[in-house]
Amino acid sequence: MRLRDCHNFQDFRRLAKRRLPAPIFHYIDGAADDELTYRRNTEAYGDCDLVPNVLAGVETVDMSVEVMGQTLAMPLYCAPTALQRLFHHEGERAVAKAATKFSTMFGVSSLATVTVEEIAEIAPGPKMFQFYFHKDRGLNDALLERARAANFNVMALTVDTITGGNRERDLRTGFTSPPRLTPASVLSFALHPMWAWNFYTKEKFDMPHLSGHVSEGTNLAVSVGNYFSTMLDQSMNWKDAEALCAKWNGQFALKGVMSVEDAKRAVDIGCTGIMVSNHGGRQLDGSRAPFDQLAEIVDAVGDKIDVICEGGIQRGTHVLKALSLGAKACSGGRLYLYALAAAGQAGVERALDHLRVEIERDMKLMGITRLDQLSRDSLRFRSRAA
Ligand code: LAC
Repeated sequence: MRLRDCHNFQDFRRLAKRRLPAPIFHYIDGAADDELTYRRNTEAYGDCDLVPNVLAGVETVDMSVEVMGQTLAMPLYCAPTALQRLFHHEGERAVAKAATKFSTMFGVSSLATVTVEEIAEIAPGPKMFQFYFHKDRGLNDALLERARAANFNVMALTVDTITGGNRERDLRTGFTSPPRLTPASVLSFALHPMWAWNFYTKEKFDMPHLSGHVSEGTNLAVSVGNYFSTMLDQSMNWKDAEALCAKWNGQFALKGVMSVEDAKRAVDIGCTGIMVSNHGGRQLDGSRAPFDQLAEIVDAVGDKIDVICEGGIQRGTHVLKALSLGAKACSGGRLYLYALAAAGQAGVERALDHLRVEIERDMKLMGITRLDQLSRDSLRFRSRAA
């Protein structure tokens, strides 16, 4: 199986599984507890159907959107994810270059493996920084100021990782950052010599935004769950978020809002956006899917801030369904991470191209030429159908 054999999300996933040592693959692929929420995030899009119009003259389609002050050429962007050089030696560079080529946004995590300064040099387009609120206030200040100096356009405070999710696949495989050879995983690393060659011979693994402040994650191997539980500040509250928002003084989002009440408070503290997200099902298993929760959140705050639907997206039609409910854009992690693992920048470009082509085709089949022509009327929910 090669990159040219990848035609959809599941194909990229299969190729990533072949290319990666098992602990790394399962870190991306896994979620919390019984992974109910992870599965539901995608299944939710299957509970409603699109209602197309015809004879609309659709030869030219404009799929651009304005979200959080940024113009994106497509209504989907690469959500920030951690540790990307573990998945492919180019890591965040590959994603930044691919997203820039497609004139869409991408996110860089506080737990990234390439610096924001380097990313800014290679990617002049819209960029988001994903902020993790640490106990170490010096580190928090440094993260904010580095992202500002590197001209990141959007700051997203992660609010759904107040403690580590129970990722049982990581417990079984012994996944840590940096990766550690364990009796359980040594065979899997040995069976992926290409990955091991790249990982051990290319630049040394580092999380450059953290090193110098904390050794966990770079010099001290820890699981991501452990990192969240021990390094992040569990006392983080609305006052902290408000202060951070004021300090950033620009486009600011809360990433991981699921309730109407919280969405309203996000407006109150000055946010310009929210990501309706459950962290890819990796935190609270049994929590509702973003798509299921989208309509009530849009009804409450959609005219005041930009609502982004994040999670479970595998198809262009998923994006059109979320936009029909009033999301301004969609984002996802695995939708480009498997492709990154499969083939670096070329993989991410192929994944983004597929999704772009799908969205364009689906818009034409829906009989629309602009995304603001989608509305609640474009959808019917089966259980709620008259
Ligand atoms: C995770 C974090 C790091 O879910 O985003 O693993």
